[in-house]
Amino acid sequence: MSDRLKPRLYSIASSHDAHPGFVELTVGIVRFEYNNRPRGGLCTVFMADEIDTSGAPIGVFMSPTKSFILPEDKDTDIIMVGPGTGIAPFRAFMEQRVFDGGKGRNWLFFGDQSAKTEFYYKETIEDWMDSGDLYKFTTAWSRDQEEKIYVQHRLKEHGAEIWEWFENGAYFYICGDKTYMAKDVHRALIAIAEDHGGMSNEDATHFIEKTMMREQKRYLRDVY
Ligand SMILES: Cc1cc2nc3c(=O)[nH]c(=O)nc-3n(C[C@H](O)[C@H](O)[C@H](O)COP(=O)(O)OP(=O)(O)OC[C@H]3O[C@@H](n4cnc5c(N)ncnc54)[C@H](O)[C@@H]3O)c2cc1C
Ligand SMILES: NC(=O)c1ccc[n+]([C@@H]2O[C@H](COP(=O)([O-])OP(=O)(O)OC[C@H]3O[C@@H](n4cnc5c(N)ncnc54)[C@H](OP(=O)(O)O)[C@@H]3O)[C@@H](O)[C@H]2O)c1
Repeated sequence: MSDRLKPRLYSIASSHDAHPGFVELTVGIVRFEYNNRPRGGLCTVFMADEIDTSGAPIGVFMSPTKSFILPEDKDTDIIMVGPGTGIAPFRAFMEQRVFDGGKGRNWLFFGDQSAKTEFYYKETIEDWMDSGDLYKFTTAWSRDQEEKIYVQHRLKEHGAEIWEWFENGAYFYICGDKTYMAKDVHRALIAIAEDHGGMSNEDATHFIEKTMMREQKRYLRDVY
């Protein structure tokens, strides 16, 4: 007897208030070569190539998050870091913030390999910039130049302003790759607290990991 298939989790990329009755996802289709043969991810290839769109039922379930949520106070600023498919929950957050109409500013850091091929939700993001709903949008395209540019490099470049937002009570969110990106972003936050908050490494680590993350619960992660 074989093991049961494990479910695959996907962040919901839409706000129910903006799209009543719908749930939208942002899915990166997993395709690669192994021993010179094309291989693919079980669930994502099913979604891309095999799904029956005639209305036949598909087994899905909802698993609501208790912690990766917007601040209750709609006037609180938020910084969102979501490279790759990590943008998914932030598209939903932005839709909800626009719907809610609070005064809190929204700053999105997004990146992927190239602006030409992976600029997800480009028109929507440009519309949010034009309307002022997105106060700031900072990109990190890793393969559009010789050297790699990642979101953590951009965070450090904007360190002084990020520190001002933190002092003003901003929430900080990360979504996406757990193995490398989230760890590097975490280190960048500690460096920002040292460089712009004038803290020792020990105090900066305490501020980011204990004060912001555990006590104030305004540094929130959804990483995989
Ligand atoms: C909380 C959470 C939220 C998530 N949200 C999202 C989301 O919003 N969007 C999204 O796209 N994904 C998201 N994921 C990831 C998602 O759940 C699946 O893991 C992903 O879509 C792959 O599933 P799959 O069945 O297609 O691949 P699988 O059949 O599970 O295969 C994945 C495996 O393929 C192998 N593999 C992949 N690429 C290569 C390569 N280039 N070379 C060699 N081996 C390789 C690796 O071993 C990898 O572990 C999330 C995961 C979690 C835990
Ligand atoms: N081989 C695999 O198993 C495989 C393949 C694809 C995705 N994934 C996983 O699937 C999930 C989602 O992938 P995704 O398609 O959304 O995008 P992703 O693979 O997370 O890549 C998004 C962007 O992050 C960059 N990046 C790579 N290392 C980084 C680091 N240390 N810090 C910051 N940014 C970094 C990538 O740059 P560069 O790629 O130019 O370095 C790319 O520009 C992740 O968990 C990822 O690890 C796994």
